[in-house]
Amino acid sequence: MAQLNSHYLKLKAGYLFPEINRRVKAFTDSNPEGAARLIRCGIGDVTEPLPEAVRTAMHKAIDEMGTRPGFRGYGPEQGYEFLRRAIAQHDFRSRGLEVADDEIFVSDGSKCDCGNILDIFGHDNRIAVMDPVYPVYVDTNVMAGHTGDADERGLYSGLLYLPCNAENGFVPAIPAEKADLIYLCYPNNPTGATATRAQLAAWVEYALANESVILFDAAYEAYISDPAIPHSIYEIPGARRCAIEFRSFSKNGGFTGVRCAYTVLPKDLECRDSTGSKKPLHPLWNRRFSTKFNGVGYTTQRAAEALYSPEGRAQVAALVEHYMGNAAILREAATNSGLATYGGTNAPYIWVRAPEPFTSWAVFDKMLQEVNIVTTPGSGFGPAGEGYFRISAFNSRENAQEAARRLSALKW
Ligand code: MLT
Repeated sequence: MAQLNSHYLKLKAGYLFPEINRRVKAFTDSNPEGAARLIRCGIGDVTEPLPEAVRTAMHKAIDEMGTRPGFRGYGPEQGYEFLRRAIAQHDFRSRGLEVADDEIFVSDGSKCDCGNILDIFGHDNRIAVMDPVYPVYVDTNVMAGHTGDADERGLYSGLLYLPCNAENGFVPAIPAEKADLIYLCYPNNPTGATATRAQLAAWVEYALANESVILFDAAYEAYISDPAIPHSIYEIPGARRCAIEFRSFSKNGGFTGVRCAYTVLPKDLECRDSTGSKKPLHPLWNRRFSTKFNGVGYTTQRAAEALYSPEGRAQVAALVEHYMGNAAILREAATNSGLATYGGTNAPYIWVRAPEPFTSWAVFDKMLQEVNIVTTPGSGFGPAGEGYFRISAFNSRENAQEAARRLSALKW
């Protein structure tokens, strides 16, 4: 009989968001009135329509594809040259950062990239993750067999957890022990925290000293408004030799339904092979793309390119401003209710401490039942998230204002 991948059996019951959906469905099925009033501040999914520059570029690309000379079949798996160049130029070179066009790999999402990247690493690496953490980093390592079982708190043996809390500003301290792969996410999902230049520099120094690789998730980079906060790990000298960066068009261009993202894998980045000799990772990632991926569709890549046009940039700025306006409204409501509130100033997530003795799921249920607001329970992001809940600012202004009113009226 064929054998399954038994590492999957170690995964906890459900991925966080399907579990939230299950509870919301149970509530709405039995409560039509509550269902009609429901405001979703749970999953960080964009709500505002696609920017005009994107739609225009997609229409044009579709029309092109409808002509014999403009038709395209399989494209380059790593992305069309026009998009790789636009990304490298606008997101990096124009900011003084050295990134070549062919160090950009265009994909269908950062969630996929964060999981797929494990293909090019060995199985004996010591993996470090922040706690709380975007669950994909942990679950993909579980699936790949890089962990033992989870304990009763949900911590997997074999992983090095880096606690993030209010005391350390949700930026983990540099560990005393060695980790080979380190996942860092800034601006952070779920806490909305940002890391300073000095904090990222300390991590780069650690990675270079230990021959580690930092997997830097910068999906929320567009939400940084403080000029002192780095947008990219490559702003830190030496990072090209120790870091892979993940970026997405989901949260800036509103592409959660369109699907386009990219990784930056510098050619200077080397790891050791089984004989101990150093080899660059870039050819491996390139090979993986050629073998396991057919590339992102032409129309989508033209849409992503349009985000870098003057109109596209202005429209992205307006979207970011809209969501950050929501964040300010929601953050203020939570703070005025006497709750300790974090994030929400350079990130679209507000991380809120629930009053004692509420657990994260107890808050989730209370908010759902009493004020019909869907949030995300902090414990779903790891044990250090227990007692917290996350409010997403991705919403219409009307919904954000109404959610703020209900939050203010909630009796704890
Ligand atoms: C979240 O809510 O944490 C995000 O939407 C998840 C994602 O981007 O995959």
